[in-house]
Amino acid sequence: MNLLTRFSLIFLLIFAICLAVIGYFSSRFLWDNAREQVQTQAKMMMDTALAVRKYTSGHIQPILQKTATVEAKFHPESVPAFAATEVFLKLHDSNGGYGDYAYKEAVLNPTNPRDQARDWEEDIVNDFRNHPEKKEIRGQRSTPTGDMLYLAQPLVVGAESCLKCHGLRDDAPPEMIKEYSLGGTVNGFGWKMGETIGAQIVSVPVSKPVKVADSAFHQLMFWLLLGGILTLVILDVTLYLAVIRPIQRVAANADATSKGDVDVPELPVTGAREISVLAAAFNRMHRSLAKAMKLIDGQ
Ligand code: HEC
Repeated sequence: MNLLTRFSLIFLLIFAICLAVIGYFSSRFLWDNAREQVQTQAKMMMDTALAVRKYTSGHIQPILQKTATVEAKFHPESVPAFAATEVFLKLHDSNGGYGDYAYKEAVLNPTNPRDQARDWEEDIVNDFRNHPEKKEIRGQRSTPTGDMLYLAQPLVVGAESCLKCHGLRDDAPPEMIKEYSLGGTVNGFGWKMGETIGAQIVSVPVSKPVKVADSAFHQLMFWLLLGGILTLVILDVTLYLAVIRPIQRVAANADATSKGDVDVPELPVTGAREISVLAAAFNRMHRSLAKAMKLIDGQ
């Protein structure tokens, strides 16, 4: 096997090992990062929902409760759950590309039917009901539009004041009952103090950050591969010009001289120090040999 092939093979072997190690760690880093990004988005949505709820109960509710008694009309805008749900529906319908992001106050027996917990949401609510010590559930599920990460927190009846509207139906404000008596049946009553009645569930698409991570990984691998190939070509050309070609010249000269052709031209003393020293030494030997041959011929 010649020097260039041997050198190239060693380089390729080391490069392949390095590429595999870099690929493994960078893919792990990128995908962990993508997963973390999804979790952060979910957490931010949950915290935003809580902030909207707080703002509504602190600032909107007191104002609207006053007007409700004067006008004898119930304003759902005063309900924190309604405000949080509406804000995220607006975000969902905006042009910001949040179509896959969702927030729901999923409740087993809701006042507003759109808050009804359905299949997988019901399982989460029941999990919280059976395990009151659980404060959060997260997981991933497949949907027709791709994988979704969900983050859920329990909705617990934490104050007696809730029971004014969600306890006995007869205790609830009549204007509220009027507003919500859909088809004669009214839900959202019979809740108990301390009961877990539902869950706040945030859904965030996993596919987008994963796609970004995938493309970053492919780009990184492409540029590393290109860099490796270019390095190999440059190293091979340098090796050929600086070492292999001068050695081939010395070998050709040595071959000709050994066969008695002492008139071959001298080698150029150029290039790397080691090579020029070799060429100069060979030229000296060649000259001495030529002189010796002439002496022998003279005798
Ligand atoms: C003044 C009456 C009133 C009070 C007090 C009240 N709620 Fe509600 N609540 C409602 C109404 C009305 C809705 C339905 C809003 C809608 O249309 O989305 C609702 C909705 C909810 C929902 C969403 C699920 C559903 O039933 O549609 C949750 C969760 C909720 N309330 C929890 C509470 C908690 C917890 C408290 C106590 C801190 C409380 N509510 C106090 C009237 C009230």
